[in-house]
Amino acid sequence: MKFQTPAGHNPIDRMSVVGQPLDRIDGPLKTTGTAPYAYEQHDAAPDAAYGHVVGAGIAKGRIRRLDIKAAERAPGVLAVITADTAGPLEVGPHNTVPLLGGPEIRHYHQAVALVVAESFEAARAAAGRVRIEYEAHAGAYDLEAARTTATAPEANAQMGEPDTQVGDFLGAFADAPVRLDETYTTPDQSHMMMEPHASIARWDDGTLTLWTSTQMVEWCARGIAKTLRMDRSKVHVISPYIGGGFGGKLFLRADALLAALGARATGRPVKVALHRPLIANNSTHRPATIQRVRLGATRDGVITAIGHESWSGDQPGGGPETAVSQTRLLYAGANRLTAMRLAVLDLPEGNSMRAPGEAPGMMALEIAMDEMAEKLRLDPVEFRIRNDTQVDPENPERPFSARPLITCLQTGAAQFGWQRRDARPGRVKDGQWLVGLGMAAAFRNNLPMTSGARVRLDGDGRITVETDMTDIGTGSYTIIAQTAAEMMGVRMDQVEVRLGDSTYPVSAGSGGQFGANNATSGVYAACIGLREEVARRLGFNSQDADFADGQVRSGNRSAPLASAAARGEIVAEDRIEYGDLHKTHQQSTFGSHFVEVAVDGATGEVRVRRMLAVCAAGRILNPKSARSQVIGAMTMGVGAALMEHLKVDTRRGFFVNHDLASYEVPVHADIPHQEVIFLDETDPMSSPMKAKGVGELGICGVAAAVANAIYNATGVRVRDYPITLDTYLDRLPDVA
Ligand code: MOS
Repeated sequence: MKFQTPAGHNPIDRMSVVGQPLDRIDGPLKTTGTAPYAYEQHDAAPDAAYGHVVGAGIAKGRIRRLDIKAAERAPGVLAVITADTAGPLEVGPHNTVPLLGGPEIRHYHQAVALVVAESFEAARAAAGRVRIEYEAHAGAYDLEAARTTATAPEANAQMGEPDTQVGDFLGAFADAPVRLDETYTTPDQSHMMMEPHASIARWDDGTLTLWTSTQMVEWCARGIAKTLRMDRSKVHVISPYIGGGFGGKLFLRADALLAALGARATGRPVKVALHRPLIANNSTHRPATIQRVRLGATRDGVITAIGHESWSGDQPGGGPETAVSQTRLLYAGANRLTAMRLAVLDLPEGNSMRAPGEAPGMMALEIAMDEMAEKLRLDPVEFRIRNDTQVDPENPERPFSARPLITCLQTGAAQFGWQRRDARPGRVKDGQWLVGLGMAAAFRNNLPMTSGARVRLDGDGRITVETDMTDIGTGSYTIIAQTAAEMMGVRMDQVEVRLGDSTYPVSAGSGGQFGANNATSGVYAACIGLREEVARRLGFNSQDADFADGQVRSGNRSAPLASAAARGEIVAEDRIEYGDLHKTHQQSTFGSHFVEVAVDGATGEVRVRRMLAVCAAGRILNPKSARSQVIGAMTMGVGAALMEHLKVDTRRGFFVNHDLASYEVPVHADIPHQEVIFLDETDPMSSPMKAKGVGELGICGVAAAVANAIYNATGVRVRDYPITLDTYLDRLPDVA
């Protein structure tokens, strides 16, 4: 089904199931610990051996000598895989660096060996006996130092052009009566999802089955096929449950490749999990940025010049952190400039992490907006409202499909009690605590992606949905069941959803907050096909047939849905494809974040006291699972503001704090009451579901709102994240 004209009235609009805050249908499996994650597919591979990954001990250079003899002789060891013994390998379509290194080493903890043994303990012990001599080369590890060598990255579909310019930015900025020119930095961050990267591989007559933890089943299948130089049809990827990804599991990683190599070498199924201390340096991370924001405005707060430049680094062949994305779209301003520059760094590969681009971009832009509002003596909510735009400011002939940013800002301000804020910093005290309020806009794009599904109707009136869509903890099972139930007029318990299997139709997968809208739209398309076939078999006109309560009605006739399949199952398959609507209309999601913090006047400790997010993201398919996405994202935003920081050892080129003891993320005690408001929005331009996504909108702007609240509390402006005590303690005002 090609979606090319705005969606008219359709069966989803009934919203008897879609749009309801239903419990997750996978909830009981998760809460009882019985959902089989990749490492736990014991039934599929009861005789699996265990692989333990050895990571490189240098960041850049060569292996001079790799001695595996002692490891091979260790008790229980079945095989030791290295680049020497693995056979020819290519680099997969989404990988920048070979997943199995040697003799050349491209980054610290790049995998250089897999030890396979009868037990996890035996494999781990033997891995300690692999002896490696390196020849270390000098590398570039410091973004600030490498910044002067950065160049414009090549344009691509995801990021567009590296540079955009409208009007005369430099002239307008120079002429602006009120100007801001500040530089902000965001650190490298690690996804640190709960479930590590994990896979079990099994070979049967040249066919590889991978039980793995991946956000994008088809990307993983293509990645392993390319890497192993085999036919895609000989790869079967299964990924029904995933313990978080955040972008770290978008494509093939070392666990899956090494499990496949280990299984091939031993003739046994092999399971591999990346042990936690390996993940930060072995897998991808969100790259650090240096961002310069320049704003020029009239004295009454109209932006006349807006400029945003971002520097980031990556391995040769990698890409930039697209931190200027939102600045191309969020605020009006006749004269504009954005630019991305990319330096070569020999750190581990950078890649997507939850809201790549906008998440770190908003961390800078939305502090800058707060600073500029103060210069203008304008309320920061009002400053944003004055600079709203209903069209793409770089291409004014493109309107937004829907853009209630002002409503998000006003609703949030009213709900949060923003009018009680004292704009003068450091004025509100609560005992030893300095109390402040901060806010930011939220913005993230909506991404249309082709997505397929197959639906079946059996003689009992039950619907089965099959798609390779994944549920990374977001609620995909539930919203897909809701979609099928709505479309076919059956109860939720009459729908079975099968996900995460590469034998099912290829879906959008989970990423970029595009999963919910696109995957359900694919199910919608397949259900339209199923409805047509049901109507045909019942002799009804499919155009006016109504599917509800297990019945199909047309005119004054009706028949049980199940009767259509009395003589055999009916199967329909289709996919949603998108025409030009997202080109003629800019599709984005909007919101606002409001935060109250208290800062201890003596110690500088920050406590977040209240948080509110207001989101406009098209139709909300399930307010309960959507709320969970947003409060999770808000929590991650607090981590970005106050804690998350992969610390680079700039001499040896690695992330030092590579475990959850030293890479800090918020815990329950750090997070107060959180409130989420969804505006009632349907976006007929986005898809037949009229939905968009919220999983990333919820993080975009949070960290800046926290930073702005800290400023309001203390008068201390911190422009380098994370905002830790050491960055401001000496600047705290005296609390007498
Ligand atoms: Mo997302 S960072 O595309 O999982």
